[in-house]
Amino acid sequence: MMIQRVRGFRDILPGEVGRWRTIERLAAEVFENFGFKEIRIPLLEKTELFARSIGEVTDIVEKEMYTFIDRSGDRLTLRPEATAAVARAYLQNKLYSIQPVQKLFTIGPMFRRERPQKGRYRQFYQINAEVIGVAAPTVDAQLIIMLLTLLKKLRVSDLTVQLNTLGDGDCRPKYQAALARFLESIAGGLCADCRRRRTENPLRVLDCKNQDCQALLEKVPTIHDFLCAACRDHFNTTCNLLNQEGVDYHINDRLVRGLDYYTRTTFEIQTRALGAQSAVAGGGRYDGLMEIIGGPQTPAIGFAVGLDRLVEIVDAQWAAKDRRPLVFVAALGDAAGQKAFGWVNRLNREGIYVEMDYSGRSLKSQMKQAGRQGAEYVLIVGENELAAGTVIVRDMTASAQKEVPMRDVINLLRGIGSATKG
Ligand code: HAM
Repeated sequence: MMIQRVRGFRDILPGEVGRWRTIERLAAEVFENFGFKEIRIPLLEKTELFARSIGEVTDIVEKEMYTFIDRSGDRLTLRPEATAAVARAYLQNKLYSIQPVQKLFTIGPMFRRERPQKGRYRQFYQINAEVIGVAAPTVDAQLIIMLLTLLKKLRVSDLTVQLNTLGDGDCRPKYQAALARFLESIAGGLCADCRRRRTENPLRVLDCKNQDCQALLEKVPTIHDFLCAACRDHFNTTCNLLNQEGVDYHINDRLVRGLDYYTRTTFEIQTRALGAQSAVAGGGRYDGLMEIIGGPQTPAIGFAVGLDRLVEIVDAQWAAKDRRPLVFVAALGDAAGQKAFGWVNRLNREGIYVEMDYSGRSLKSQMKQAGRQGAEYVLIVGENELAAGTVIVRDMTASAQKEVPMRDVINLLRGIGSATKG
């Protein structure tokens, strides 16, 4: 039986790659306008990095990581997200000594062993942006604006910005205690997952997808009543800045996100265009993460866009067109084939896209192939032309052809090439 790809993994075929590339290029362009620099980090990290930062009692760490012991006994994990790895790279490479405030972006695959469905894959791609070293809410608002700028450039509509705060080490424990008391009072009606989460990670009960759980949460206390003055100010200032810039958002006090490192601001961009997997992007502040992984206290905030999902919802207009060859060289016979090979190589090396036939097919099928590939010109050279020292140049758009001396061919094609480029 033919070997199949791994479940939940996907092939991105040549016809689709154009759209991916356009989005990646645009993201880099937009982010660079906001002062971000690209960083590339490994796909593989020590398991401990993710276990500590994302949190032991999260779906990702409990059941979704691709973890293995390598031959030297190290426990390694294919990265399920990029933030912890960017934080590690910031510390390990002492990026703070070059410039304490680092605005970094990275694009690449992540791995989570989730149940595959439309918009949810086991290898998926993210565009991440992280600002490390700034505590001010200005950056919270700026990041959301940067993300919306990208989505607007891609003309993605039907989006909502969901915004929340998760407080900090001062006020969140007080909220968690109140939440735990409330959850105890409704424990009997909760789904099996939430009964477990109730004691292990009570915040996660808030965004349970189960309708019965959501109904029971109607009177759940909200974090906004427990925020300390500093967290409240931070949240209000973020909101005010977004208001000032005309950003539409909804405060969603049940938005807790699936990773434990968040503090204060959290947000998600959601769309109805995606069905069940409605989050196109998510992020938030993680002021405590650097300490968790062994560095000094360093404020930071970031987000990740789900590239697979974004590709799905951007208009087909973003699919870059396949490049068409300027010229197809149709050669008949070995001697003409050799000559053609020389021309094609020379022009390809000079940056002109020229195609040829590789299997000695008839003129008719070579012409067909040239048409399929959308060549603008076809160069025809057979035994007669070789003997006469000429080639036939056929303009495929005008359906007209003329004979030119063989020695002029390269210059002629160069001329056409630079005219088309210009
Ligand atoms: P996340 O919410 O886990 O956050 O993922 C961000 C985005 O990645 C999601 O909104 C979604 O679009 C996409 N995504 C997640 N899982 C899958 C999947 N299985 N298949 C397809 N797309 C998926 C993070 O990963 C954080 N590191 C974001 C962040 C950066 N926070 C601060 N900085």
